Amino acid sequence: MSLSDDFRPGLEGVVAFETEIAEPDREGGSLRYRGVDIEELVGHVPFEKVWGLLVDESLEPGLPASYCELPVRTGGHMSDLQAALAVFSGRWGLKQLIDIDDKQARDDLARLSSATLSIVAQSARGDAAPVAEEEVMKGQTAAERFLLAWRGDVDERHAKAIDTYWICTAEHGLNASTFTARIVASTAADSGAVLASAVGALSGPLHGGAPARVLPMLDAVAKTGDAEKWVRDSLGRGERIMGFGHRIYRAEDPRSRVLRRTAEELGSPRVEVAHALEKAAHEAIAERHPDHSYTNVEFWSAVVLDVAEVPPSLAPAMFACSRTAGWSAHVLDQKRTGRLIRPSARYVGPGERSLAEAG
Ligand code: COA
Repeated sequence: MSLSDDFRPGLEGVVAFETEIAEPDREGGSLRYRGVDIEELVGHVPFEKVWGLLVDESLEPGLPASYCELPVRTGGHMSDLQAALAVFSGRWGLKQLIDIDDKQARDDLARLSSATLSIVAQSARGDAAPVAEEEVMKGQTAAERFLLAWRGDVDERHAKAIDTYWICTAEHGLNASTFTARIVASTAADSGAVLASAVGALSGPLHGGAPARVLPMLDAVAKTGDAEKWVRDSLGRGERIMGFGHRIYRAEDPRSRVLRRTAEELGSPRVEVAHALEKAAHEAIAERHPDHSYTNVEFWSAVVLDVAEVPPSLAPAMFACSRTAGWSAHVLDQKRTGRLIRPSARYVGPGERSLAEAG
């Protein structure tokens, strides 16, 4: 096969790694972490144990509980997290992946992952005085500690919404941020640099930022009271409907199913308008792009996070909290391969010419 035949825009369908962590099944039937269906995990084990399943292949010991102070307040939740991860890697003296064994790398990733939950909660708390560490550590689960650090109390419905969301979004194969984590890990940078880079990739609306745009969309639809018209107007303006379409799935995303059910069980007041928009957008997008007409994880995530009163601006950082699991598992996989990731680009620019010609 010639080099030009190999070119796949967006690397679609290119197999770059083999993995035993998880991989979505394209027809949308199910999503399994290390072979275990997420349907079996949600409501049975908390997120911190799922982190263990993905990273250590074992529920125990799972992600350790910890409390870290927010080192820098930047004005944005994702930038607070990115800055904090960079600060911790320097402050904690994290060594580069090439200089440490797998056990040390795992422990660094666990420490950073646990710190991520603490940092995002404190970033969400804004300028209010931080909740004391001993109060936060009274929480029984990572979701409860998150709520304590953020708001100083725990509403069990909110904790269930966050825990379910975190489990459903903990890992999803080779998406853009996980690929980023693997690329940076392949250079043997330290784990703080790796996770900070992954957070940057996740901050874009085509990957992790869509839930932040779903709620305003639901509000707009509720205001007009006519989901079909709203969808046609948006598509007519050439806009994408956020929370629909996926590079992998050609049918319903199994995470959508779990999250939709959770939104219904938790009695979200937005369920009705979300159903109306889901139906209208599915039908309208299917006319031109049937492969992109199903909701992706971010649509119902937005509704579930809303149950926990997570503001849209915080949604990408909530995603970063859960994805520390998938990122960490892939970083350890990548470390074991020891192979630098370095794809090629086909040069299609001007032929050789003088500086004067380039003028
Ligand atoms: N609404 C309307 N049209 C959509 C769409 C959406 N949500 N998603 C894809 N399409 C259309 C595109 O406009 C494009 O049409 P065109 O060929 O006429 O230009 C076609 O479907 C293919 O889109 P493309 O961006 O090439 O496909 P992809 O596989 O790269 O897209 C996503 C995957 C997720 C980036 C895309 O579906 C999207 O932008 N969704 C909205 C953002 C979102 O929800 N992101 C969260 C992902 S978990």
